[in-house]
Amino acid sequence: MIITCEKCKTRYKLKDDAIPESGYKVRCQKCRHIFVVKKNLPESDKTQKKHTPERAASKCKIISICNQKGGVAKTSTCINLGASLMLHKKRVLLVDFDVQANLSMLLGLKNAKSFFEVLHAEDEDLKRFVIKARHNFWVLPSNSKMALLTKIHMQDENFEYLLREKLKSVQHYFDYILIDTPPSGDFYTLNALLASNMAIVPTQCEYLSMNGVNHVVNMISVVREKTDHKLEYRILATMLNRKNVAARAIHKKFRAKYNQTMFNTSIELDEKVQESQIAHMPVIQYDRQSHAGLQYLELAKEIINE
Ligand SMILES: Nc1ncnc2c1ncn2[C@@H]1O[C@H](COP(=O)(O)OP(=O)(O)OP(=O)(O)O)[C@@H](O)[C@H]1O
Ligand SMILES: [Mg+2]
Repeated sequence: MIITCEKCKTRYKLKDDAIPESGYKVRCQKCRHIFVVKKNLPESDKTQKKHTPERAASKCKIISICNQKGGVAKTSTCINLGASLMLHKKRVLLVDFDVQANLSMLLGLKNAKSFFEVLHAEDEDLKRFVIKARHNFWVLPSNSKMALLTKIHMQDENFEYLLREKLKSVQHYFDYILIDTPPSGDFYTLNALLASNMAIVPTQCEYLSMNGVNHVVNMISVVREKTDHKLEYRILATMLNRKNVAARAIHKKFRAKYNQTMFNTSIELDEKVQESQIAHMPVIQYDRQSHAGLQYLELAKEIINE
């Protein structure tokens, strides 16, 4: 990136990965002035004349990945879909809205500041807390303090709109914002859903998974009715084992029941996903030929073409 001395305006070229998340103090070689360098957010649509801020913000699609059932690949989908959208040249922000902070961990962000700190900072500006992580991901991380949000803010008026309000300051920087949610239907998922235009419901193809999906779909219907909030949802089959007869049968049932609301793309069971997580990489970067990696690329295409 190009940095400019605040005082004499001399410009220098600096390697992006040479800058830590906390910023970096540099001394200008010309005037000896010392200043702090931080990584830039992607270029804002605000700077492009043809978009008004309002138009630019409405161009940003906000997608929550949710299912009250645990271990259905919500976090894996968030990271791998995010990586695939970026490969399609889209500007993506990942929001870790889960106290478990699995997404942050996978991106090497331990104890980074979270939405909790956003709400308790003086200016409450979420923009200052968005950081660049491994593999060029823009992230709003999570940490264990996120658990306090329910205790402190559950009684706030409009507590369910906290995330939506704060995302407004960064929306125009991104084409997609993906929100990872916990396996529950409480404060966090509700905030995520009310901030989103779309919910992706990942599900395994097992008998009890149908119940889990019904739960989320009901919750989305209640949110739509009670708040008049326009929220579409799509079901995504994950960890599909096509060799398994029961999995194939449940997959067929899902297709019959959810028809148009189910993505054409399914993500198959692929050990490369687990290997890639040990290597802290999106699966498509870990192995360019991996089935799951190519399927997440297809999924990104489906979402872009909608
Ligand atoms: N396509 C896949 N093939 C094989 N394993 C996968 C695949 N997708 C995800 N996994 C594995 O399944 C496990 C659960 O995935 P993940 O953590 O993404 O689920 P989750 O829904 O976010 O869980 P939680 O509800 O706890 O937040 C992880 O070990 C992950 O590596
Ligand atoms: Mg998760």
